[in-house]
Amino acid sequence: MSFKITVLPGDGVGPEVCREAVRILRALSHFYNSEFRFDERPIGGAAIHSHGTPLPQSTLDACLESDAVFLGAVGAPEFDHLPPDQRPEAGLLCLRTALGGFANLRPAASFPAIADCSPLQRSRVEGADVLIVRELLGGLYFSEPRGFGQNDDYAINTMRYSTAEIERVARIAFAQAQDRRKKVTSVDKANVLETSQLWRRTVTEVAKDYPDVKLDHMYVDACAMHLISNPARFDVILTENLFGDILSDEAAAITGSLGMLGSATIGGAVDLYEPVHGSAPDIAGLGIANPLGAIASVAMLLRNSAEMPHEAADLETAIRQVLEAGHRTHDLALHSQGRAHVVGVREMGGLVEQAFVGMLDRRFAYHAV
Ligand code: IPM
Ligand code: MN
Repeated sequence: MSFKITVLPGDGVGPEVCREAVRILRALSHFYNSEFRFDERPIGGAAIHSHGTPLPQSTLDACLESDAVFLGAVGAPEFDHLPPDQRPEAGLLCLRTALGGFANLRPAASFPAIADCSPLQRSRVEGADVLIVRELLGGLYFSEPRGFGQNDDYAINTMRYSTAEIERVARIAFAQAQDRRKKVTSVDKANVLETSQLWRRTVTEVAKDYPDVKLDHMYVDACAMHLISNPARFDVILTENLFGDILSDEAAAITGSLGMLGSATIGGAVDLYEPVHGSAPDIAGLGIANPLGAIASVAMLLRNSAEMPHEAADLETAIRQVLEAGHRTHDLALHSQGRAHVVGVREMGGLVEQAFVGMLDRRFAYHAV
């Protein structure tokens, strides 16, 4: 097998967490004597520095020719004064469009070992396991018209959705729910927005093709409240682009740190994997970032793109084991009670690699007998 991954480290802590993600894939490659090939390319602020643009053509070409794309993070304060189309973030948004993945899967679950890291009471987060399916190519992020008025005295963004855009992401959400607890909560603002009324109508139609999945609807403001007061009530949350962006950061409170969450963007020509956290410029280069969100994204890559579901499950177990053994990156150690063994980004990556290889060893020994 030869599997090509284009790696886009990007900005801030992006390169640090990408290094640990790649280390896991190298270990797997080595173990199976199979071949993951890596091609590293600039994006975001790093690409503005090296190529004068946040998404160089050479980066995009490499991505389009690969089996999967792995991204660290984009964004840096030095570009804060620039208009949206010249910022590092524009590189990521153009890449998403070019790859075509319209469904962004963002799981957030409670880990018993770090339940005390959550600002929410243990009794509320215990058992919580939510998958946010965020529409990624439409809505306010991309619709026209947009821009500033002539004298910068007004600005405009447009939220537009077609039934086709809603239907295709809804099908992904229902299919995901069929492999989980068979419940979809569709989140909108149908009491105010026409796009949301179309969203609700379309999702209700699509639901008829998935009679085994229970559908309910919720306004986004209510969802923001229920997500922290009763997160265990949710299975799959299906929502549009901006609502999904906001709710997925909020959902991190369930796990305890934004650094824990991974994501997969599917449905397009090439699937894209990235941790949910951003570039975190305040801790960039200090070696204290949490690589577990990036490593969780590797598990999603193994499951969705590399057809290695057992290895994906092993990697998720490895993450759990390392946390259960008491190892914590700084973001987790701040809030954890009792004895925490505080580690840096590389050490955490190494611990997960060790646990992962141990599991692969056992799997291999089992198959050998
Ligand atoms: C995310 C990020 C991006 C988004 C930014 C960096 C463009 O916040 O992936 O959640 O808004 O989608
Ligand atoms: Mn976001």
